[in-house]
Amino acid sequence: MNDCSWASYSTNRLVQHEIGLELLSMVQESDWKEDDVILDIGCGTGEITRMMAERDNVKEIIGIDISSKAIEFARLNNSIEGKTRYLVADFRKIKDIHSEFQNAFTKVYSNMSLHWMENTEKIFQYIFWCLKEDGVAVCNLGQSSTLLTIYDNYPKLKRWTKYVQDFDPGIHVFSGNQQDMWDIATWCGFKTSPRVIKSSSKQYILETRERVKGHLKPLMGPLESIPTSLQDDFLEDCCDLFYDVASKTEDRRYLWRHLLLRLMLKK
Ligand SMILES: C[S@@+](CC[C@H](N)C(=O)[O-])C[C@H]1O[C@@H](n2cnc3c(N)ncnc32)[C@H](O)[C@@H]1O
Repeated sequence: MNDCSWASYSTNRLVQHEIGLELLSMVQESDWKEDDVILDIGCGTGEITRMMAERDNVKEIIGIDISSKAIEFARLNNSIEGKTRYLVADFRKIKDIHSEFQNAFTKVYSNMSLHWMENTEKIFQYIFWCLKEDGVAVCNLGQSSTLLTIYDNYPKLKRWTKYVQDFDPGIHVFSGNQQDMWDIATWCGFKTSPRVIKSSSKQYILETRERVKGHLKPLMGPLESIPTSLQDDFLEDCCDLFYDVASKTEDRRYLWRHLLLRLMLKK
């Protein structure tokens, strides 16, 4: 991810939104509690945070994100007074910086964010630590994506070598399977029942070049280090790279693919 334009992320996060809603649909009506207190990890620009806050039963929702610019956008555009709180925080350090989060939440939700943090075991330990007894974690975790294929092919962007050669994507997809994830969850202390870990394979047709560009913009990490006057040229070349490496439908429409694990775990 880059910090260039969260307004653009908010407009173009159609894939993330659909995946986020699918994740949310794992929570059945009976799973919502009166006075739910929710933590949204990696809330980004806060659209789904706000949707959860709109539920009558939700007492408070705290959205945290490592990006101060994302949080600024969320505060401005997706706040509900008295219900949402947006904080800049690195979840990997949550025990040190927000000790009051221990046993504080009835739900922890996280969409498309946990694979931006290394050490899945530690992350799920921390989620467990944040939850109240009987609290529920509803999260997804990337396993593979067209994004990784693009990063792998960055060396083809010869004009941009200086910017892409030392680029560390900072993405840590989960390389195990459902059983491996389950082993981690039980090791953290999550209950064995109900246990919901689903593999989810998603693909989206990115119809137009503008759509591809909008989707790529927040995800092309090196963008931040490229002079503003050249950023559009870089994005155009990233679009060409996408068209070069992406899978296609039989009628030659270009696909963005995600393989994810969706989890719903009870403390
Ligand atoms: C793909 S975005 C998803 C945003 C949002 N959940 C959504 O559905 O649109 C991933 C988010 O995770 C955040 N993130 C990455 N590492 C983080 C960390 N260590 N702590 C908190 N947030 C983090 C990024 O800043 C980014 O906003």
